[in-house]
Amino acid sequence: MAIYYDKEQCTITLDTQHTTYQMKIGPGGLLLHTYYGPTAEGDQSYLIPYRDRGFSGNPYDAGNQRAISADTFPLEYPCEGNGDFRASAFSLRRCNGAVGCDLRYQEHRILPGKYSLPGLPAVYAQEEEAQTLVVTLADREAGVTVELRYGVLPGLDLITRAARILNSGDAPLTLQNAASAAVDQLAGDWELIHFSGRHAGERTPCRTEIGQREILIGSRRGTSSHQQSPFVILAQPDTTELSGPCIGMSFVYSGSFACNVSRDQFGTTRAVMGIQPEHFDYPLQPGEAFQAPEVLLAYSADGLAHLSQIFHKTIARHICRGPWRDRRRPVLLNNWEATGMDFDGEKILSIARKAADLGVEMMVLDDGWFGARNDDNAGLGDWTVNTQKLGCSMGQLADKIRAMGLKFGLWIEPEMVNEDSDLYRAHPDWALQIPGKRPVRGRNQLVLDFSRPEIVDAIFDQIVQVLDECRPDYVKMDMNRSLVDVYTAAASYQSQGKILYEYTKGVYRFMQQLLDRYPDLLLEGCSGGGGRFDAGMLYYCPQIWCSDNTDAIDRIRIQFGTSFGYPIRTMGAHVSAVPNHDAHRTEPIHTRAVVAMAGTFGYELDLNLISEEEKQQVPQQIAAFKQDWDLLHNGLFYRLTDVMKNRKEAAWMMVAEDGSQALLNIVTLDATGNSPNRFIRCAGLVPGANYRDPESGRVYSANALMSQGMPLPLYHTRYGDVAPGEYTAFQIHLQRV
Ligand code: DGJ
Repeated sequence: MAIYYDKEQCTITLDTQHTTYQMKIGPGGLLLHTYYGPTAEGDQSYLIPYRDRGFSGNPYDAGNQRAISADTFPLEYPCEGNGDFRASAFSLRRCNGAVGCDLRYQEHRILPGKYSLPGLPAVYAQEEEAQTLVVTLADREAGVTVELRYGVLPGLDLITRAARILNSGDAPLTLQNAASAAVDQLAGDWELIHFSGRHAGERTPCRTEIGQREILIGSRRGTSSHQQSPFVILAQPDTTELSGPCIGMSFVYSGSFACNVSRDQFGTTRAVMGIQPEHFDYPLQPGEAFQAPEVLLAYSADGLAHLSQIFHKTIARHICRGPWRDRRRPVLLNNWEATGMDFDGEKILSIARKAADLGVEMMVLDDGWFGARNDDNAGLGDWTVNTQKLGCSMGQLADKIRAMGLKFGLWIEPEMVNEDSDLYRAHPDWALQIPGKRPVRGRNQLVLDFSRPEIVDAIFDQIVQVLDECRPDYVKMDMNRSLVDVYTAAASYQSQGKILYEYTKGVYRFMQQLLDRYPDLLLEGCSGGGGRFDAGMLYYCPQIWCSDNTDAIDRIRIQFGTSFGYPIRTMGAHVSAVPNHDAHRTEPIHTRAVVAMAGTFGYELDLNLISEEEKQQVPQQIAAFKQDWDLLHNGLFYRLTDVMKNRKEAAWMMVAEDGSQALLNIVTLDATGNSPNRFIRCAGLVPGANYRDPESGRVYSANALMSQGMPLPLYHTRYGDVAPGEYTAFQIHLQRV
């Protein structure tokens, strides 16, 4: 049993293999959070201080007991209106305009297996792997019932949370905020690590003190965004990669989100995660319910690497689905950076031919194959094949590519429309627009109202006509702007605040329909690179294009940041041409390949145009990737250097779960003459064991590698042994002896 109810102490305890999470039904039914940390037996509510504090009001039913206050207690699901002045998870407006309610415990149920959320992505598990707790809170007078759902996967040290809100009264209500989870930590000087960025520069880790203030991160863009990731970590000041406590929260949702992290006047740290309350105003008629998406929660007592590994395993095996979940993905070549939209069928075939020659396994045709799409000002919405440009039908093109021994993949961007398209000319009201206001354009395109099922279906029907004809093995589903003008002619005044949530569900429905129709399809997510890289998308797409920035050195940082919350095998990563089109940097093709192998691995250039020497390396790289794939994609991942601080070298390591082998990856970031000695400290090896490098035959002690490190390999030159120049990559295999 992972979930226990102690009737005497009124505690409900969620135990995983190494952690305990506990709540207590407190005075008057306030649901208190007592503990989240390493396994702890018994009632942890001794931690909760009962003190009369000025300006911290008391519930009416507490009578004269002034030490009872929602403002000072740690709470499981803080709501606005009960006297808690900190950030709340829940806020409703009654039909008379009054804001506020007071949620109290009603009952709880413990169920076998893991709950699921209709129409929303969520962790799945075998019945024997998980248990579910449903705690019902209510405010009878306000007419609202909240079901807090907890999924416990003990073997993974994972807890999931979600909330379902029901209008259980007889008057309409409007939700102003309905977050999915709140975590209050009474003790500890927690810091926040969040992952911020920009287009072509996603997910840079930022570690910051919290102090007595609220830190709000999130997205108002209708997508999870390039600018902030819906994944945060709370860590103690002395927590490092390999030691110290930390808590991770990952939102399984791809739309606008908010994460409010605060420290209150008495030192309690609170993190609230859920749907972005701005532009959210969700009406509920009596009997109607709203489902808030899921949050994943994990606690590690052993540092950030272990925390990441919990999220990696969870996402890889309990979020990602379908036949491609555990299969090696084909090494692909995508034509985007080679041609943009300036191609014809012959050009694509010539790129494919060379790719096939050199061992690539799949050719992906990116943007520009449909309608009048010759630049990014026209064509979106018209999903008919431009046979004139291709010189044949899509089915014929796919056949020609398959005849080369390659699989075939295709790009789509279903959520978008150009004003210069037949679709827009026929249905201008299908785009999100505010009547009378000129819409904001992004990449010269508007956004289709995917909150309306009939629009999702119309686009789906168009696209599957092409897919039925060419039966692609892979589809890249892109999305290239943020949402503004969020108004739909199809909804009432009261329902405009539902659109963003319903839009995200529409996107999920579109992807689910694709997967249902083509069960073997490999779907890759994309939003101008990694603008919608989140656990929600990964439920449908086992991989997401990590960034439009393909420069290997920039990618090291982007993939490093992404690795805190997401598995290596979910990060779309390709070798591209040099000098890089964006960063204008030049790295050897070997370095570009080593970095792409810390992702899905593929190519994004015309292989006809590289040097003969580079051409020889491509088949070797593909062979190396295939040989090491299991370790690269299933091994435990360790970040060995902090690429935000260490400007000399970046290093990371994959270690087989049983410790039998490991792959050490190093990329030098600078060079200097007569350089000081440099060592890379390894991690995750079996202490006391020895490991052999099969290439040199040299045997290393794991203890030495993990305490002193591996010397940076030297180059033998006619001047003697010298340190490698900048942007040189090494992969060192280690096999346990
Ligand atoms: C943005 C993507 O990230 C690129 O890889 C490419 O597919 C373009 N869109 C195409 O418009």
